[in-house]
Amino acid sequence: MQAYCQSVFSNLPVLETRRLRLRPLTMRDERDMYRYCSDPEVSRHVLWDTHESPRQTRAVLRSALRQYRSGAPGSFAIERRSDRRMIGTIGFMWINCEHRSGEVGYSLARDCWNQGYATEALCAVLRFGFETLKLHRIEAIHESDNPASGRVMEKCGMTREGTLRGRVFNKGRFSDVCLYAILRSDPLPGNNDFSV
Ligand SMILES: CC(C)(COP(=O)(O)OP(=O)(O)OC[C@H]1O[C@@H](n2cnc3c(N)ncnc32)[C@H](O)[C@@H]1OP(=O)(O)O)[C@@H](O)C(=O)NCCC(=O)NCCS
Repeated sequence: MQAYCQSVFSNLPVLETRRLRLRPLTMRDERDMYRYCSDPEVSRHVLWDTHESPRQTRAVLRSALRQYRSGAPGSFAIERRSDRRMIGTIGFMWINCEHRSGEVGYSLARDCWNQGYATEALCAVLRFGFETLKLHRIEAIHESDNPASGRVMEKCGMTREGTLRGRVFNKGRFSDVCLYAILRSDPLPGNNDFSV
């Protein structure tokens, strides 16, 4: 299972949805990525720091490419098909091969919020997790004061399992997080619901 997952992550496929293309990151994503990663509103509820310079974005991209090469779990670039702009990332934070579980995370440029893009991308990645990675359970967490992210998880068929108190130390404070999960036997929204 571990060797299989490594081979998938080192040859990350392209996932097409109605409006998006989820594809491996490249160094050419620097400009688009810096644009949204330098926005403190985007990084407020995620565990990475606001990018201070394009150089920092380049280092993040180099690290992502190293991860692909090693076969470690990694992220897709979220590219909008209409203008080929890279508007965010989504991917697996970790995979546990023994238990066939994993955790997904995502972030999106602020001017692209509330248009259903995260939901469209997450549904595709959940399907990839079950169909390609053969996972049994996929988790996601969000800080309790970031309800939009919980709504995305709900819309993709994930179930809220509880609150983990003081689970993360983020941007100088301890935060409660809400844990969501979906099992491969749970229904995923149909093709027509989110155009995946
Ligand atoms: C969280 C995030 C990914 C959502 O992306 P998105 O593309 O706007 O998500 P969608 O448009 O698919 O869905 C957003 C849903 O949240 C709802 N929503 C937005 N703001 C909300 C709020 N303050 N409270 C409750 N629901 C909210 C929207 O109405 C929508 O639900 P609806 O379709 O039922 O109306 C995006 O805001 C983001 O990138 N934030 C910064 C990074 C981040 O927080 N990542 C997640 C870490 S866990």
